Amino acid sequence: MMIEKILVLGSNGQIGTELVTALRKTYSEDNVIACDIRRPDYDIKNSGPFEFVNVLEKETLNTIFQKYKPTQVYLLAALLSATGEQNPKLAWDLNMNGLLNILELAITYKTAKVYWPSSIAVFGPNSPKDQTPQFCVMDPNTVYGISKLAGERWCEYYHQKYGLDVRSIRYPGLISWKAAPGGGTTDYAIHIFHDALKKGSYASFLNAATELPMMYMDDAIRGTIELMDAEAGKISIRSSYNFAGVSFTPEILAAEIRKHIPDFKLTYTANDPRQHIADGWPRSIDDSYAASDWNWKPEFDLAKLTTDMLKNLKK
Ligand code: SER
Repeated sequence: MMIEKILVLGSNGQIGTELVTALRKTYSEDNVIACDIRRPDYDIKNSGPFEFVNVLEKETLNTIFQKYKPTQVYLLAALLSATGEQNPKLAWDLNMNGLLNILELAITYKTAKVYWPSSIAVFGPNSPKDQTPQFCVMDPNTVYGISKLAGERWCEYYHQKYGLDVRSIRYPGLISWKAAPGGGTTDYAIHIFHDALKKGSYASFLNAATELPMMYMDDAIRGTIELMDAEAGKISIRSSYNFAGVSFTPEILAAEIRKHIPDFKLTYTANDPRQHIADGWPRSIDDSYAASDWNWKPEFDLAKLTTDMLKNLKK
């Protein structure tokens, strides 16, 4: 059996922190190399190899590929939607050139599989909002969404032109308690839990009725690894898969939190730029390709994720 060597670039972020831990459980600690531009804060630094890597530095990347000859690469380093709007050029540069660097090196070093996350941000104001289909009008109006949509096209291009086995998921807002979220529009759905426990109240930057697709991190990590483990012949989408967990509004989430913290108060702040971003995104996602190609099925509904978030944050 081939020994897998797995590089995770952007290992210190919200997804990387949990993905590295999950991969190290399956593939053993030494075979999963965590890479980030920042020093790792979490279990990562004590549980296996770590390298400082900036995905925009081709020379460093080349050295890392040469050193580890990875069989799988997960590229998670990115600027998210809200942060991206504050620095559009950097967001484009990091999200796009980081990806192109990895796609090129994966060909040079014959990396067997590459994973790169896309997002619901690839959809825009003219995409259907409910049960947004895999294929439809896509007119993203954030730099983040534009870079993710362009990245999806590059992934499919590398697959078709060079046979690269690159796989991708369009993540919804990811809810987790282990590491902080990285500057997205869906971050309210994490902040709300912290503030509910600390202060008994939260001021939401999205309004009461803003419904967005969300998912608990446990589901996202499991789905990601299931996609990477699926037989190549089953992967019919080489751009990026629609991927759904649960959809809710701030008001609905607050009502669920009140089942645990009855006095929890939710207020709303006006004129936050993230409202405009959310208004261009889907309310819910049709993920039937993921369901039929590799049997995707989420396990966490709103009640289950709320109970789990509160239980873990209380610890
Ligand atoms: N959670 C991300 C964001 O809000 C969506 O991909 O930017």
